[in-house]
Amino acid sequence: MVRKVIIAGNWKMFTDLDEATQLVKGLKASYANKNDVEVVICPPFISLATVRELIKTSSNLLLGAQNMYPEEKGAFTGETSPMMLKSVGCRYVIVGHSERREYFKESNAFLNKKVKVALDYQLIPIYCVGETLTERESDKTFAVIKTQLVEGLAGFSAEQLKKIVIAYEPVWAIGTGKTASPEQAEAVHAFIRKELSDLSDAKTADSLSILYGGSVKPENVTELMGKENIDGALVGGASLKADSFLGIINY
Ligand code: PGA
Repeated sequence: MVRKVIIAGNWKMFTDLDEATQLVKGLKASYANKNDVEVVICPPFISLATVRELIKTSSNLLLGAQNMYPEEKGAFTGETSPMMLKSVGCRYVIVGHSERREYFKESNAFLNKKVKVALDYQLIPIYCVGETLTERESDKTFAVIKTQLVEGLAGFSAEQLKKIVIAYEPVWAIGTGKTASPEQAEAVHAFIRKELSDLSDAKTADSLSILYGGSVKPENVTELMGKENIDGALVGGASLKADSFLGIINY
């Protein structure tokens, strides 16, 4: 099964409008789609429309949002709806990043609603799962990830699951410079695929792209991407400089 390779850059809350504009211009200047990688840029909300204008002629550079509120419209001060994301050209939306789970107390049940609403609006959710260091050290990694998958993806048909992208991001590896070893990552990716198969069927699970995230850099991406169940990367820090992000894209 040939799965779609996706490299997504999550700029988090790091770029103002000028910085986002410069970064995307820097990317575009040297970007060549060498290996059929779908590149997704997830800038802060305030830059989405500007980034969209800058990338609209590059067919493999796509726009993603970092978050979304799961209602079409309403009195939800400060929130952004899927309809709004569509209107600025977003194709992807990150759902359940560990920073949202931790700082904004987003539960699996709430994230399940976000995934559902994203699908309803033809946005591709990148649903994030991952264990903390304490959970890993107490041998709870697989149990935690299973719960995040079973609860976060409850109630979806195989047809719906096919449209979802999963990102495995061990919390202890995010922004810390510590990457999971390719073997540690592969073990969890294989487990995720098996769980997805239980939630749907083997064919559906086999078709889904599972990205790895957590201190991905040009220096470690090739080895990670060499693993059977690793289909791409969700990149934070290293996506904030054009040369390092391009180094990852051209792994
Ligand atoms: P990092 O972040 O690459 O800086 O570790 C990854 C993420 O949070 O998606």
